[in-house]
Amino acid sequence: MIVLNSVAELDEWRRDLPAGSVVVLVPTMGALHTGHLELVRTAVATPDAMVVVSIFVNPGQFGPTEDFGKYPRVLESDLAMLRGAGVAAVFTPTEMDLYPLGYRVATRVRVPRMGKRLCGKSRTRFFEGVCSVVLRLLNSVLPSQLILGEKDFQQVQVIRAMCQDLFVPVVIRSVPTVREGDGLAMSSRNRYLSVTDRGTAIQLYRALSGAMDAVWSGERDVKRIENTVRAQLAKYPAITIDYVEVVDPTIRKQRWVTHSSRLVAAIWINGTRLIDNVPLSLPSKES
Ligand code: PAF
Repeated sequence: MIVLNSVAELDEWRRDLPAGSVVVLVPTMGALHTGHLELVRTAVATPDAMVVVSIFVNPGQFGPTEDFGKYPRVLESDLAMLRGAGVAAVFTPTEMDLYPLGYRVATRVRVPRMGKRLCGKSRTRFFEGVCSVVLRLLNSVLPSQLILGEKDFQQVQVIRAMCQDLFVPVVIRSVPTVREGDGLAMSSRNRYLSVTDRGTAIQLYRALSGAMDAVWSGERDVKRIENTVRAQLAKYPAITIDYVEVVDPTIRKQRWVTHSSRLVAAIWINGTRLIDNVPLSLPSKES
């Protein structure tokens, strides 16, 4: 596993790749956990894969009052986790590498409608920042495949829309959310939770699971599902709800549950923001 600290080093590495290599990119902000390793495993299993994991804490996707300053930067332990996982290269660009003009005056990419809803409403710069950095990563690494985690369902869909709309020739594959033993979705931000808040955090997945069960038992009314999840979460004073919605893959609100429905939610627990989502699968005989 080679560590590439700049776009110049990346270019040189890329030039010497064996013919027929399939470059697969797993973009991350570091502070890696088992969920990231699952993305890496998926990438590595691709025939002829040359897997590149990028680690870059992107200033563009944090709001002025968000956690950019305190976001964990633990490169050595990240590299230790990746060693032996079959990764060909770890790309750790600097801010100057990705934004040579500086982020403030850099060209930005915005996916207007999808990127303004849900997370984009309370984190107004988030998706513009994500798209702007992911496009730079794609144009630097030039992968054939991009691997993303479904925990960030809206992010996956926004990046898909950007790539489709801008004719970016990359195949996007998403990997199901990896959860702790009690169901909490793995996230680099879970480490911000106190022991008590960690205990409360599990209520998010419990509420979403309750909705999955309800749909399995015949519930199809989206309003009722959303209200039940909200009521469940509202029992916990430490939780502040940002949104609970059932959406389709284009992030449009739905009235009735369909085969492509996703129940998505975001909450704060004493200042730590957690997101999660589940598919609301209908029994297969229903259309
Ligand atoms: O999901 C993340 O970790 C980030 O949003 C990403 C895709 C690496 C862009 O900075």
